[in-house]
Amino acid sequence: MWYLFFLTVIFLQPPNIYSLNETCWPRANNLTCVLNKLFFGYNKYLRPNQTGDPIRVQVYLMITSLGPIAELDMSYTMNLFFRQVWTDERLTLPNKISNVAVSTKLLSAIWKPDTYFINSRSGFLHTTPTLNHLLRILENGRLLYSSRLTIKASCSNFLRRFPLDIQTCPFILSSYAYGTEDVIYDWKLDENNGVELVPLKLSQFDLFHYKTSKRIIQFNDRNHSVLQLDLSMRRNAGYYILQGYIPASLLVILSWISFWINSDATADRVYIGVTCVLSLTTLILDIRSYIPAVPYFTAIDYFFIMCYLFLFASVIQLTAVHCHLDYRRTIRRKKVMKNLSKTSDRQNTSSKISLSVQNIRQLNPTQRSTFAGVVQRLQNLQQKAPLHEFDRLARIGFPLLFTLCNCIYWYIFVFYTSQ
Ligand SMILES: *[C@@H]1O[C@H](CO)[C@@H](O)[C@H](O)[C@H]1NC(C)=O
Ligand SMILES: *[C@@H]1O[C@H](CO)[C@@H](O)[C@H](O)[C@H]1NC(C)=O
Ligand SMILES: *[C@@H]1O[C@H](CO)[C@@H](O)[C@H](O)[C@H]1NC(C)=O
Ligand SMILES: *[C@@H]1O[C@H](CO)[C@@H](O)[C@H](O)[C@H]1NC(C)=O
Repeated sequence: MWYLFFLTVIFLQPPNIYSLNETCWPRANNLTCVLNKLFFGYNKYLRPNQTGDPIRVQVYLMITSLGPIAELDMSYTMNLFFRQVWTDERLTLPNKISNVAVSTKLLSAIWKPDTYFINSRSGFLHTTPTLNHLLRILENGRLLYSSRLTIKASCSNFLRRFPLDIQTCPFILSSYAYGTEDVIYDWKLDENNGVELVPLKLSQFDLFHYKTSKRIIQFNDRNHSVLQLDLSMRRNAGYYILQGYIPASLLVILSWISFWINSDATADRVYIGVTCVLSLTTLILDIRSYIPAVPYFTAIDYFFIMCYLFLFASVIQLTAVHCHLDYRRTIRRKKVMKNLSKTSDRQNTSSKISLSVQNIRQLNPTQRSTFAGVVQRLQNLQQKAPLHEFDRLARIGFPLLFTLCNCIYWYIFVFYTSQ
């Protein structure tokens, strides 16, 4: 009875591997036969070399587009061909055949690494018009699995040097389930160190450097092999230079015009100073709308603060000149009064002086504000008030100081990059 049972079991067994390779042996190039043979008895639930060494997965990628980099939600988006190569000895093709592209349907029938991107927020495999991935069986059981992905990954942006900043965005991948005793990742060793960049054109940034590294991280009491790619991008500051730095500097330079205007024309001088301050405020508000709201000063803020301080200082200078002139006048008037009491000859001169001062004050406001009035008054006062010593100092001091501050500023934010 038992013998009979065993016999039936033996006869009912599916044809074993020998019978398969014998049927397709004469035609080794017949792929159907070869694949049937390869997948006979294949267990996709176990990694290749299950009892042996950890399998090594080589990763290489080609980044086809990068950006935009969103400072507001601290992320960046990139589009890449993500390729993994590993060896599955169970899928070794006969000698004459190699590099066979097979349908991606086969992907569900084999074991493949469960790679995931540690810092990704979201991402998708492109599906137009079909799923954009491929599987190739290379020589000696090496498999190439490539897919085209768009990934949005997190990238912590530090904007202290904005807009002269360099952003370094990482791209980190690892195996979700397998630890270092099962799967080890490696960057493919080629001339690009595993990363290929098609000539990238980014609107906001220039990619100038990338670095690959690998390390081991402990997650859930298991050591995982981790690969990291750091992309360093320098922001194109052109927009901000044209729209922010140059106009702000020109406003500061414009405010120095008042040092060349006669020191008696206080109203005009203050008018220039205040106009510059208001223009700078408008400019800052405009530029500020492009900068994410960060709770600290960025490099462009420091520049604007510097410009504000210069404008403020020039207004202070005007006030100082005005006060000093007033002070001098009172002293002169006192002297005149003294002399007046002594000699009656001087009466004429004293009245002349007070007359000229009153002339200025008595101009009506519309006349004051019109350009013609300004020019006329400039002409009137040209001879009367000599160059004030504060103005002489400011004409040289302000440009020198501004140049110096600019040198320090650009040195700190452009050349001094150790921070
Ligand atoms: C069939 O395959 C086995 C190993 O899988 C091999 O030992 C045998 O020689 C093959 N048969 C032929 C006819 O080549
Ligand atoms: C390939 O092998 C299979 C099974 O052995 C056979 O049915 C098929 O006709 C062969 N095809 C070619 C082109 O030889
Ligand atoms: C499988 O593991 C053995 C050692 O256990 C090793 O010699 C062999 O090279 C490994 N095969 C692959 C494809 O890694
Ligand atoms: C992970 O690696 C470290 C250092 O190699 C080792 O000390 C530790 O025991 C490992 N942890 C596990 C869970 O294997």
